[in-house]
Amino acid sequence: MPTVLNSFRLDGKTALVTGASRGIGAAIAVAFAEAGADLILVARGDCATTRKAVEAVGRAAHVFRADQASRAAMDRLAAALGGELPLPDILVNNGGIVRRGAFAAFTDADWDEVMEVNLGSVFRLSQTVVRQWLAAKRHGKIIHVASLLSFQGGIEVGAYTAAKSGLAGLTRLMANELAPHGINVNALAPGYTVTENTRALREDAARQRAILDRIPAGRWAEPADLAGAAVFLASPASDYVHGHILAVDGGWLAR
Ligand SMILES: NC(=O)c1ccc[n+]([C@@H]2O[C@H](COP(=O)([O-])OP(=O)(O)OC[C@H]3O[C@@H](n4cnc5c(N)ncnc54)[C@H](OP(=O)(O)O)[C@@H]3O)[C@@H](O)[C@H]2O)c1
Repeated sequence: MPTVLNSFRLDGKTALVTGASRGIGAAIAVAFAEAGADLILVARGDCATTRKAVEAVGRAAHVFRADQASRAAMDRLAAALGGELPLPDILVNNGGIVRRGAFAAFTDADWDEVMEVNLGSVFRLSQTVVRQWLAAKRHGKIIHVASLLSFQGGIEVGAYTAAKSGLAGLTRLMANELAPHGINVNALAPGYTVTENTRALREDAARQRAILDRIPAGRWAEPADLAGAAVFLASPASDYVHGHILAVDGGWLAR
């Protein structure tokens, strides 16, 4: 195979993907397996479908069940890495939630949960992995799953917008500090994608139509649309890419 195509391979690597039980995380995990990586699948659910798909292409899949809203559960995951579980070469912080509500009515409980799942747990899991990479002088790849709301304000998703905008800043901060150590930190910003996360939007006919009308590509994304960009950011092909937020949005942000 020509060298440039080899540089997109993930053979011999292990990737940890959070939110791997369905949607975008599952699509990324399966794509990584197809590119040659073994997987650590993290979610509250059992990740059975994703695990089967990974094993079907001949790769190994470890499953670790954890609630990103629980610091104790995430501490157990952190303690397992490099012991009960392999230390990954690639970390994809994908697990995330959205809570909808008008700004004036938004509850503290929703704010706290979204900030913990979408930002706080990402900070802590990344820190655990980075500390081990630095101690072992290992290179690595971190991909945060950001959002169009890392760039825009959104409507009635205050905590989500704050968390995803914070994630964009964290991506740049981590890249500045970690690029000298051979650690690439980048983010993927999916456009409107057909998953559980967007079910409420898709069930609101007026919002569904308004969103669709604004997408230059003329369709919502499917989770598999994110896979190629994720493999790129995880692979040696992106070794000189640091602190970038790669939108895969059907042209939404260009509009
Ligand atoms: N869909 C979109 O249009 C869109 C656009 C931009 C960005 N994103 C981002 O893409 C990422 C994936 O979302 P998705 O669209 O694929 O949604 P999804 O189908 O709802 O998947 C979310 C994943 O996160 C996991 N998860 C949710 N809450 C969790 C928690 N408390 N602890 C551990 N895992 C948890 C879920 O697994 P369990 O339920 O099994 O725990 C599931 O695997 C999110 O960060 C989301 O913000 C999505």
